Amino acid sequence: MIREIRLWPDPVLRRRALPVEAVDAPVRALVNDMFETMYAAPGVGLAAPQIGALQRVLVLDTRPRQPEVQPVAMINPRIVATEGGLSVYREGCLSIPGEAEEVERPAITTVEFLDVDGQLQRLRCQGLLATAAQHEIDHLDGRLYVDYLPMLQRLSMRRRAKRRKQERAGPEQGTSIAL
Ligand code: NI
Repeated sequence: MIREIRLWPDPVLRRRALPVEAVDAPVRALVNDMFETMYAAPGVGLAAPQIGALQRVLVLDTRPRQPEVQPVAMINPRIVATEGGLSVYREGCLSIPGEAEEVERPAITTVEFLDVDGQLQRLRCQGLLATAAQHEIDHLDGRLYVDYLPMLQRLSMRRRAKRRKQERAGPEQGTSIAL
């Protein structure tokens, strides 16, 4: 099921997500919804808080840029190592449509997580996958890529985001109550 993506500055995006205690059917259903929502958007990564679920779950599929990388769902992900210096990537976010800015992050990062079968996995991420994994793990801690930008830039982006949200809410609400 495609879920509604929460848009910045929705307060849910600033909350810290809770660890998943058991990888059960509801968690797998959440993962399926997240893949479906991400592909429909379209995007290469999505974290559960972006659809209002405060659980430590994220999905990634960077194949548009990295055909050799398989899509992956990470439950309770944790960065266990970084290497290779920093790399700069122009990041966007499904919760901040219409914006993209350069952000510097570790170039290679190893993530430990549970897969949808509850098995512990370890994945060494490079390139876009490394950037996206770190971006999504930030979401689980209530952090957004705009937090890495200078304050004045962030404030003007926030103003634009609020305006866009209002514009979006306006006509859509109007349609749904039209006779
Ligand atoms: Ni994002």
